[in-house]
Amino acid sequence: MATQRTIRFEGATLYPKQRAAIYDDARICCIESSTKAGKTVGALAWIIEQGLRGKAGQNYWWIAPVYTQSEIAFRRCWNMLEPLKAMCKRNQSAFFILLPNQTRIMFKSGERPDDLYGEDVFACVMDEASRMREESWHAIRSTLTATRGPVRIIGNVRGRKNWFYRLSRLAESGVDGMAFHRITAWDAVEAGVLAREEIENAKRDFVRLGQEDVFRQLYMAEALDDASNPFGLKAIEACLVDSYSPDNPIAAGVDLAGRGAVNVVRTGDAESRDWTALCLMDRNGNVTYLDRFRKPHRETQNEIVRRVGRCQAYVDSTGTGDAIVEDLQRRGDMRVLGYTFTDRSRQDLLEGLALALQSQMVHWPDFTTTDGKGSLRDELESFEYNYTPRGVRYNVPEGQSDDLAMALALAVKRMPWKRLTVTKPMNILQQTSRWDGTGDSEAWRKYQEGRKPTVSEREQDKPLAMPTLTRTQDTRWSQAG
Ligand SMILES: Nc1ncnc2c1ncn2[C@@H]1O[C@H](COP(=O)(O)OP(=O)(O)OP(=O)(O)O)[C@@H](O)[C@H]1O
Ligand SMILES: [Mg+2]
Repeated sequence: MATQRTIRFEGATLYPKQRAAIYDDARICCIESSTKAGKTVGALAWIIEQGLRGKAGQNYWWIAPVYTQSEIAFRRCWNMLEPLKAMCKRNQSAFFILLPNQTRIMFKSGERPDDLYGEDVFACVMDEASRMREESWHAIRSTLTATRGPVRIIGNVRGRKNWFYRLSRLAESGVDGMAFHRITAWDAVEAGVLAREEIENAKRDFVRLGQEDVFRQLYMAEALDDASNPFGLKAIEACLVDSYSPDNPIAAGVDLAGRGAVNVVRTGDAESRDWTALCLMDRNGNVTYLDRFRKPHRETQNEIVRRVGRCQAYVDSTGTGDAIVEDLQRRGDMRVLGYTFTDRSRQDLLEGLALALQSQMVHWPDFTTTDGKGSLRDELESFEYNYTPRGVRYNVPEGQSDDLAMALALAVKRMPWKRLTVTKPMNILQQTSRWDGTGDSEAWRKYQEGRKPTVSEREQDKPLAMPTLTRTQDTRWSQAG
C-alpha cells in the first residue's frame, strides 16, 4: 500500500499590505506597485502555495514579458523552495519545477501569446504586466476560464496607454470577481523592505530634474501620460519618416555584440539577443541605414568596413570591442573613434540622444530589422527611468535589447553638430522634456550657446558590468543539492 506523506509548510512572511494584495480572495487581482516593493517575491510565495495545495498533474504558470525575466523568476523560485528542494525537481531547459505533490510551476514568457493557451492551468501570475502584450492577457484569461483558476496581475505603472492600466481601473471600479491593490514605496519603507533614505534621495533627484511626476509613477504607482519614457513617446513618433534617406551617409554608430544587451540564448532555438547594430546618417540627421546582425568576429569587422567606409564613426570599444576598434583604426582608410561604455558615458550618450530626439534632429523610418524582430522605435519606446545610487539612468527592462538605440546614439554623437557632444544636459533636458513641437526651442539655443564641445571618453568610472546569463544544455533532471 502506498504511504501517504504530509508536507508541512509555512507561508512566506509577507508584510501586511503585500499579503493583503497578493492573497486577496478575488479570482482576478490587479496590483499596481512601486518598484522594488516586493511584487515578485510575494507573488512567487503565492504561486508556490497554490501549487502545493493543488493536485498531481495540475499546472501553475508564471508569465514574465521576456524569457530572461522568466528565467530569473525560475531561479528565484527554486531558491525560495530551499526547505523543500530535496523533494522537488526542476527542469532547467524548459523552466519548470515539479513540486513534491506532482504539480508543476512553469515559467513562461509573454512574447508569444499563442504559447499561452493551455488546458489545465490552475493559477497564474503575470509579472511586469505593464510591459506585457495585451494578447498575453487574452490568452491567460481564456486559459483560466475552464479551471476558474485565480490570477495575480502585478506590475509597475507605465502610463495609461496599456491594458494593465485599463484592467486595473476596471478592477478598482469594483467589478465582481476582481480586486485592485496599490503598494507604494512608503508602504515598503514602513515594512522595512525599502530604505527611507533611498526613496527620499530618489525623490530629491527627480525633483531636481524637474521630473517629480516620474518619481510619483515609479514609487507611488500613480499613472501619468507619457512620463515613463525618457525620450518622450511623442518625440519618438515625431522623428519617424517614410523611408531611409537616399543621400550619402556622413556619420556612423556601431554597437558591437557582447556589451549592453543581456546575452540571452532561448531554450530550443539558438537565438541570442545580442547583436551588432549599425546606424548610418546623412548630413541632415536622416538615417540612411540601420540594421543589426550576428556574425563571427572577422565577418563583423568586414561588414563594418563595407558599410561605414569613410564615414566618421563611433564604434563601441567596450571590452573586446577595443580590439576591433584598433584593427579598424590600423587600416588607415577609416575615421573610427572608439566609445567605451561606462555607467556614466552610457548615460551621457543617451541624454544626448534624448536631446536630439526632442529637438527632432534625427529621422528614420519605422521599419523592422532584417531578422524581422527588432525595431528602433520599439527599443526607444521601451526605455524607462531607473534610479541608482549614482543617480537617474535610462534603461530598457532587463532582457530587452537596446542595440539599435545605442547605434543611433553613437551616430548622433559622431555627427558634426558639435552641440550634441553632451556631458551634463539634464538641466536642458528638464526644459525640453515636455516636447514643445518645434525643433528649435529656446532651451536648445541656450544649450548651443552655453556649451563648448566636450569629449566624454576620459571616463574613470568602472566599465559597465556585463550581465551574462548562464546557458544550460542540461535537459536532464537536476536534483537539489
Ligand atoms: N516581505 C518581505 N520581507 C523581506 N524582504 C522582502 C519582502 N518582500 C520583498 N522583499 C525584498 O525586497 C526586494 C525586492 O523584492 P522584489 O524583487 O520582489 O520586488 P519587485 O517589486 O518585484 O521589484 P521590481 O520593481 O524590480 O520588479 C528583494 O530583495 C526581496 O527579497
Ligand atoms: Mg519584480
